[in-house]
Amino acid sequence: MMYQQDRPWRLSRRAFLAGSASALGLAALPAWGRGLVTTDDGVVRLRTGPAAWSLKPLGPDVSGAWGYNGIVPGPTLRYRQGEQLHILLDNGLAQSTSVHWHGIRLPNAMDGVPHVTQPPVEPGETFEYAFELPDAGTYWYHSHLNGPEQLARGLVGALIVAEPDAYPVDRDIAWLLDDWRLNQEGVIVENFNDLHDVSHAGRIGNTVTINGRLPHIMDVRPGERIRLRLMNGANGRIFGLTFDDLPAHVIALDGQPVPPHEPDGGRVVIGPGMRADLVIDCPVDADRPLVVRDDFYQRMEYQLMAFSVTGEPVRNASSPTPPAALPANPVPEPDPDGAETHEVVFGGGMMGGMGREKMMRMMREGMAWTVNGEPVESPGRHDHDPLFTLTRGQTCRIIFRNDTRWHHPIHLHGHHFRVLTRNGENEPHQPLRDTMLMDPQDTVEVAFVAEEPGDWMLHCHVAEHQAGGMMGMFRVGD
Ligand code: C2O
Ligand code: CU
Repeated sequence: MMYQQDRPWRLSRRAFLAGSASALGLAALPAWGRGLVTTDDGVVRLRTGPAAWSLKPLGPDVSGAWGYNGIVPGPTLRYRQGEQLHILLDNGLAQSTSVHWHGIRLPNAMDGVPHVTQPPVEPGETFEYAFELPDAGTYWYHSHLNGPEQLARGLVGALIVAEPDAYPVDRDIAWLLDDWRLNQEGVIVENFNDLHDVSHAGRIGNTVTINGRLPHIMDVRPGERIRLRLMNGANGRIFGLTFDDLPAHVIALDGQPVPPHEPDGGRVVIGPGMRADLVIDCPVDADRPLVVRDDFYQRMEYQLMAFSVTGEPVRNASSPTPPAALPANPVPEPDPDGAETHEVVFGGGMMGGMGREKMMRMMREGMAWTVNGEPVESPGRHDHDPLFTLTRGQTCRIIFRNDTRWHHPIHLHGHHFRVLTRNGENEPHQPLRDTMLMDPQDTVEVAFVAEEPGDWMLHCHVAEHQAGGMMGMFRVGD
């Protein structure tokens, strides 16, 4: 196998030390990050096209990347809760595209799903997105066309919506995690939609980046309290992060506040599309760097980042007070008792229970997964009926069954759902989420209030699974 999954990034020990010596600490992001181009009337322009992107000094230049405004990841968009987002997408690619605003509750026409909510944006064309941002939190944006290629080449960016009152931390940091499949020359390997990836765990790469940079050492101050916004923009890689001796509390999942709590099972698991906001409290003294490790995949664990505690102390308390809860967002609360219930069963994939013949027949069409028994092709190739239709304002309960041997991060567009139970047990904290990770054979019960009218997608966020049939739509009527 050409891709060395046991070496998730091409980084020698020498390079790692060099990186720390040249003080590669991440600075706090400015309110408007680099790469933002604004038109005269205050509209932010995002132009898709080839990205000049380099992993130097620690690795090779990357070629074959695509970005928004020429950078990878795209510019970080920062707004305040209640503000209008107004963006002109300008397609500089040789193929059509669109932007989906992942996790934002918005009018259907702004949701960025080609053939469903808007026409594809053809090369040289533009599309205007304008909508209000009702919820504070950590969101992201990405291409919603030809995901296996456009996500793998880098068409992702962070979208951060600030609370009306600043949350009390010393620093607010966003890490958009991504995963790349590069050859030895740093060229993005172009086997997008490889049938093996489609029918197994998706496209898992060999190079992990944080905001487009290789893992490195970041300087933090003694006693510093940091809000760390984690986002997974990878096609298929799941991260399972541990935080060494750092006290870490989860304060939000997928943008929505949760009661502050230590990571369940000692690690923060984020599948593609998912986010987690943490508060970490740096110790007042540490005689070694504190290490963030990713140990999601067995025998493939590696060091994602390290914090070096150095400089003037921010405070001297060795046992900080627990972080405060974030204010709730105005998401309507579902009432699951007696609610209309729908069952959604995911099947297929390698080593699953599906008959070999059916699997082979599907794979000849590039499909490998089923939703309620049949693979669902991308919108545009065929019209298809919604899985179910809801009335606006109504609570819907969905029982998701993962009848496969694989993990799937399941995403609903335009809504946040409460995760009620998993395999018959109450889900810890019963969070509101827009994307929920299912382990193999899991049964998960969620509930949400149908909001904006329109056709909304429901799919696995592993890009290759989605393209391989693991998607569907639900309709909200007026
Ligand atoms: Cu973040 Cu339909 O996707
Ligand atoms: Cu999946």
